[in-house]
Order: sequence, then C-alpha cells, then structure tokens
Amino acid sequence: HSASSHVIIVFGASGDLAKKKIYPTLWWLFRDKLLPSNTHFVGYSRSNLTVDNLRSNAMPYLNAKDSEWTQLDEFFKRNSYVQGSYDKPEDFIRLNKFIVDNFSACSNRLFYLATPPSQFISVATNLKAHCTAESDGLWNRLIVEKPFGKDLDSSEVLAKHLSSLFSEDQIYRIDHYLGKEMVQNVVVLRFANRVFSPLWNRDNIANVVVTFKENFGTEGRGGYFDEFGIIRDVMQNHLLQILCLIAMERPISMEANDIRDEKVKVLRCMRPLSLDDVVVGQYVADPENGKPGYLDDPTVPAGSITPTYAVAALYGVPFIVRAGKALNEKKCEVRIQFKDVIADILPSGAVHRNELVLRVQPNEAVYMKLMTKRPGMGFGAEETELDLTYNRRFTDLKLPDAYERLLLDVLVGSQINFVRTDELREAWRVFTPALHALESQRVAPHPYPYGVRNGPPQSDEFMRRLGFTFSGQYFYPHGG
Ligand code: BG6
Repeated sequence: HSASSHVIIVFGASGDLAKKKIYPTLWWLFRDKLLPSNTHFVGYSRSNLTVDNLRSNAMPYLNAKDSEWTQLDEFFKRNSYVQGSYDKPEDFIRLNKFIVDNFSACSNRLFYLATPPSQFISVATNLKAHCTAESDGLWNRLIVEKPFGKDLDSSEVLAKHLSSLFSEDQIYRIDHYLGKEMVQNVVVLRFANRVFSPLWNRDNIANVVVTFKENFGTEGRGGYFDEFGIIRDVMQNHLLQILCLIAMERPISMEANDIRDEKVKVLRCMRPLSLDDVVVGQYVADPENGKPGYLDDPTVPAGSITPTYAVAALYGVPFIVRAGKALNEKKCEVRIQFKDVIADILPSGAVHRNELVLRVQPNEAVYMKLMTKRPGMGFGAEETELDLTYNRRFTDLKLPDAYERLLLDVLVGSQINFVRTDELREAWRVFTPALHALESQRVAPHPYPYGVRNGPPQSDEFMRRLGFTFSGQYFYPHGG
C-alpha cells in the first residue's frame, strides 16, 4: 500500500488555536501549493458547526486577497466537519468511517490535537483505538501543543500515556519558536562559520542573554495565563529551546535525533533552578500611560501572584533567560556577550564588550557590536556594528510563518524542530523545583509598571550580579 491521499484531522476545530493558527496555516500551504495534491481536512469538535462556520471564524486570520477567492473556495471544498465527543468510542468509530467512506482507507493521517489539555488523554486513547490507518506503508502522526503538563509529574503522566499509544516518531510536539527563521539559523551560523566556533566557549563568552518581551499584557487571556505564568508559558519551552541550540555541542549530523541528542545533553548538564536563580515580577498599572495592571484584568483572579516577568540564570556560562509581558516593546533576541579584551591599551572605559546579537523578531537580524576607530582625525575608539539586517540584505524577503514550516515538516516526517519526550522531561526537571517553591512559599512578584524596559529593578540588579554589563551608550540604528 502507498497512500492515495492525506487527511489532516483537526481536533478542537471550534477553538481559538484552530481559527487563529491552524486553518490559516493550512490555507497558506494549500494556496502556495505546498501540500500533496490529494490532501483533505476534517475538523472535529463537540460544537454543532458547519464548514461555513469554520470558514467565517477563520476569515479574519486568513489574509486572503480578493484575487485568491476561487482558490479559497477550493480550499474550503476540501474541508469537512464532524461533530463528536472527545470521549465516546462510537464517535471515533464514526469519524473513522467518515474518513474511509469519503477519502479512502489508503490515506495517511495527521491528527492535530488542538483540544483543551483536559481532553488530551481521552482523544489520544480513542483515536489510537478506532481511528488510525492500519495498512502497511501508511502513516499516522500526531501533533500536540503545549501545555504539556504543569510540572515534571503531570508532564510525565501525559508523556507516558502518549508513549504507550504512539511511538516517538509519530509524536510531534510543537514549539513554534523552532519554526522561526533566526532560531533555525543558529545551527548554520554556528557550525558553518570558522570565525565563531573557536570562540564559542566559556573562555571567551561572558554570558548569553535570551530575551523575550511583549508590549501587551494578558488583555482578556488572563484565565489561561494565570494558571501557567510566564515561566511555563514561554521560558520553559521557547527560550529554553533557543538556549539549547546556542549551548549544544556540534551534532554528528543534521538528523533530528542527532540534534536532539545534543540538546538533551545540554539540559542534563543543568542543575535544577532554585529560588536564588530567579527573579519574578508582575506588572502594575502605569497612571502615566493609563495602562491597567495585571490584577486589573477581570479574567485574572484577585490577589494572584502569578509572574508576568521572570529572569533566570541557568548552566555554567551563565545563560540568562528573561521573559516579560507588558514591557516597552515586542522583541525576541539572543545576545552573546564576550569577555573584556585582555590588556586594554586604550584609555580605561573606552572599550566595550563585543556582542553578537541574533534578533529573532521583529525584523530579523544578525549583528555584531564591535569597537572601531572613530572615523577621521584622532584615535578614539567607538562602538559600531557589523550588521546583517535581513530585509535590507535580501530583497523581496518573504519568510514563511513558523507554523507553515512546522506543518510541512510533519508532512515530510522531519522531527528536527519538534521536542522529543526526553527533552521535555529534562526541561521540566530544570524548572519544576523553582516553580513549586514560588507557589508553595507564595513568593510575591516584584511590581513593575506596564511598559518598562526590563521588568522590576531587581532584575537589572540580578543581571549585573551575573556579570552582564550594560553600558547604556550603544544604540542600534536599525532596531525592530
Ligand atoms: C505562545 C505564548 O506560546 O507564544 C503566548 O503562549 C505568546 O503567551 C506567544 O504571546 C508568542 O509567540 P510569537 O510567535 O508571537 O512571538
């Protein structure tokens, strides 16, 4: 048997993720003719919906041009919808029959689990029992989205359950940061450039700072957020993934498991975080700009101590990861700060540290801060940069969305950009002790006003103690 078609089944088709990300991504891939020709899409959820409902829900996020309407119609003609529960075997038997009757028994199946996390185990169990393609030569793959549990134990329960039903090569855990251009660039930048490899070590690097900032707060999404907090929402996954790519040794090949082996080694070297290794903050209203505080969000429980900002120090070098909502800008970058030059022959204080910066978003760039002679008469030293800003270097640059790349990876069976079970376990091992301590000791986050540059003042102090120097003089002229 070889597959005569591909069926993508979206569980949770009525939800937020489906309308904002999954359907738009499927549409873009379809529009750009990147999907196998005989691909069909089946939405599934508990709500009583039609394909037309799916279409109008997703419409604001599809970015379809007027000229693309015929194609959009074609796309939705390939869509169908099945209503059913997440726990009754007969509903999954019916879904299976629907697939076989409408497409063929010879279709590969991609199951996208975009359901509430509480439905996860029952959906996985039922679809394994009643809904997978069983002939030789056909594949079944499963996409799962965070949250993958809330700590080491809850994550292990899910992981064990999933592993009892599906093999590792069928499980695609999405971390959409692994689909971003600059994150994928790390491996090439590091291992295809002789200028970096000899310097990429603790003898030369003073610290590495991975930063995630957003210039908005929870704004109505407080219900989900409050249960998780910034550490679980972005640090334990997105930022840790970036860190692993920066810190890992050279993999023996570009094979998914070789790369993931190296990432796991990095994680295994990390000691678990304790309370001394983190500073947490929570934004408060800023009367100057009229922005509300976290606790003013009606979807946030009164008196919540959930962090909306955190900075943590990990691993030897040190690696500093920081993430915050309601800061001054939306930005994600990696900043590698090199040690001071030895025997500085220039006047004291004139020479600043080199930094290599990978800007993940917005406005992708790789730039290196370096010292040059101030142009003209005299011999003063000045801080400038070698600058590779993507949209100036590459004309007509159009980078695919992270989800587009990742979905295509799943279809071709590449797991490079997906999180393996042991990787996830190690990530939780590192973060769980600090998370539990914050919660059980009810550590109050430090307040910071909505819109500041870097969380509470205690976070700058924390970074200084770790050896990060911020001269405050340098200004990058092409910033995001
Ligand atoms: C998600 C988090 O994983 O990533 C959100 O749950 C966050 O809180 C988002 O806003 C950021 O993703 P991006 O691609 O917009 O940087």
